[in-house]
Amino acid sequence: MDIKTDFLKKTIFTPLNLATKTLFAASDAINDIARYLHYFKVAQLEFKPRADDIFIVTYPRSGTTWLQMILYQLATDGNMEIDHIAQKVPWFERLIDYRIWNAKDFEAMNSPRLFKSHLSVQDVPKGDCKYIYMVRNGYDVAISYFEFYCSHLGFKGDFDQFFKKFIDGDVQFGSWFVHAADWKAMSKKSDSIKSSQILFLKFEDMKNDFDAQLDKIINFAGFKIPSDKLPEIKERCSFKFMKQHEDKFDHITAQIWEKGYKRSSFIREGKSGKGKMRFSPEQDKQFQSFLKKFDI
Ligand code: A3P
Repeated sequence: MDIKTDFLKKTIFTPLNLATKTLFAASDAINDIARYLHYFKVAQLEFKPRADDIFIVTYPRSGTTWLQMILYQLATDGNMEIDHIAQKVPWFERLIDYRIWNAKDFEAMNSPRLFKSHLSVQDVPKGDCKYIYMVRNGYDVAISYFEFYCSHLGFKGDFDQFFKKFIDGDVQFGSWFVHAADWKAMSKKSDSIKSSQILFLKFEDMKNDFDAQLDKIINFAGFKIPSDKLPEIKERCSFKFMKQHEDKFDHITAQIWEKGYKRSSFIREGKSGKGKMRFSPEQDKQFQSFLKKFDI
């Protein structure tokens, strides 16, 4: 490196890099604070739980989507008119985190409102509503989460590296141990949530005796399911059916919906000359003046 480059590096580039990094870190921190304040305002102060609301709460990779489908099927006597399950059983905190929904949007939902959530006992909205918590064997959760980290979150490490993070709670949703233990404790003692408001399920029981667990869910939620609808509902909640219709359940499509993008909006119309018609006269005027200014 010649003397001039070295001088430039020391006096300009390195301080500039540092300043940029600091600014980005500060903007991330401000963004996090803004998100938290927004979450607190909507979820804790403005959201009004209803008695027939059901929060499906899990640690990720514990069968959340399965429960979403079961609840959706039971609530609609086996409807399947969905682009994605997130439209009918939205992820409560994520819609708030993305600042897409406010209290009015939640209010506009028809009862019974069904929500997916990964919130801790401390952070979940409290009220006269119901919670279904499903726990899964921690080993299976860790492996399934590792696979998800690799396939969806760009994790490049091996399982050992992931395992350390999982154990330390240094993963997206914190410690599995704390999450599961806190919810289990709350389902036994009545505290900020009464134990009668929580149905505590195990993924393994769902696998081993689905019918018995389904009965528990139906009774807890207070659904009246016509007996002739049950076989189809069960079939639709099977792994085979959900795997066959994976695009209605997967993470990527859910994010598209949560972020407010519309399906069929990428390859859109392919026509020309219609754009200008959507401009107001004022917009058109401003646009024209810019065209002129830039000599286009
Ligand atoms: P595996 O990765 O072990 O296959 P979540 O929805 O909380 O992210 O959980 C995902 C896990 O639930 C995945 O576990 C997935 O295969 C499993 N799962 C989803 N639907 C299921 C179903 N109908 N029956 C059994 N397991 C299901």
